[in-house]
Amino acid sequence: MIRLNNREFEEIVSYIRSNYGINLEKKQVLIECRMAREMEKRGLTSFTQYMEQMRNDRSGEMAGEMINRITTNYTYFMREPAHFSALYNDILPDLFEDRGMGICNIWSAGCSTGEEVYSVAMLVQDYRERGARMPGIRITATDISGEALKKAEEGIYPLKELESLPGPWQRKYCHVRDGNTFAVDERLRYNIRFRRHNLMEQPPGADKYDLILCRNVMIYFDRQSRGRLIRQLEQCLKPGGYLLVGHAELLAADETGLKAVYPAVYKNIKTR
Ligand SMILES: C[S@@+](CC[C@H](N)C(=O)[O-])C[C@H]1O[C@@H](n2cnc3c(N)ncnc32)[C@H](O)[C@@H]1O
Repeated sequence: MIRLNNREFEEIVSYIRSNYGINLEKKQVLIECRMAREMEKRGLTSFTQYMEQMRNDRSGEMAGEMINRITTNYTYFMREPAHFSALYNDILPDLFEDRGMGICNIWSAGCSTGEEVYSVAMLVQDYRERGARMPGIRITATDISGEALKKAEEGIYPLKELESLPGPWQRKYCHVRDGNTFAVDERLRYNIRFRRHNLMEQPPGADKYDLILCRNVMIYFDRQSRGRLIRQLEQCLKPGGYLLVGHAELLAADETGLKAVYPAVYKNIKTR
């Protein structure tokens, strides 16, 4: 495996932090391990060569490859179940009531391979099937990793992942394809728009959102990027809208003007 010298390590840490917000200060071995295959594939013998080629690569392909390797995409269906109970029992009914027959915009920011956004889509679909009065739903799902997004768009998962879903939803929304995989139902997929998006840049689309899930993303960020992201998420939340972060990423009172309404759930209580 090719090792990083101090200068190369500092250069990569600074590049990733300033472009993507991710803090790799204590992750030298992780970078070396995860980049090993890319270095080999390109026949490179040092990280200096990699960084030089990457900076000259106008297509952005190498930077994309690097971010695919560096990001941690761990996720699963109904991760942090307390959030999904709160969504089902309180947050979605509150939003649907408030938005009437208008549009409800949902954003899964840092959706990884899609399990989070499909879990939300299952809640919404269940609502719809119960004949409840509800607004039109638009769901945007974004991630910086093109590789993770591709899997999200495909919506095909190993059978083992069914375990975290309630039995009736496994039967209704998941179709076993072969001995190893299942596909999520088309009814979940049709109103989700997947996009590659860097959370260090302007939010996707001109819309403001009624519900934002940005969970287990800023846990990897440095302090400054985390602050910037929180401000940005706050700005694109509609009055009455909700922001969900990971339970390990709770927002301090001095970090946000949003009101904590459940653990790791915040509401924009401004009226306009
Ligand atoms: C651990 S996963 C979390 C997935 C899901 N939200 C969950 O809670 O299970 C973190 C995701 O954040 C994405 N990510 C990290 N930095 C990002 C950035 N600057 N912009 C957009 N996505 C980013 C990673 O690619 C990864 O897929």
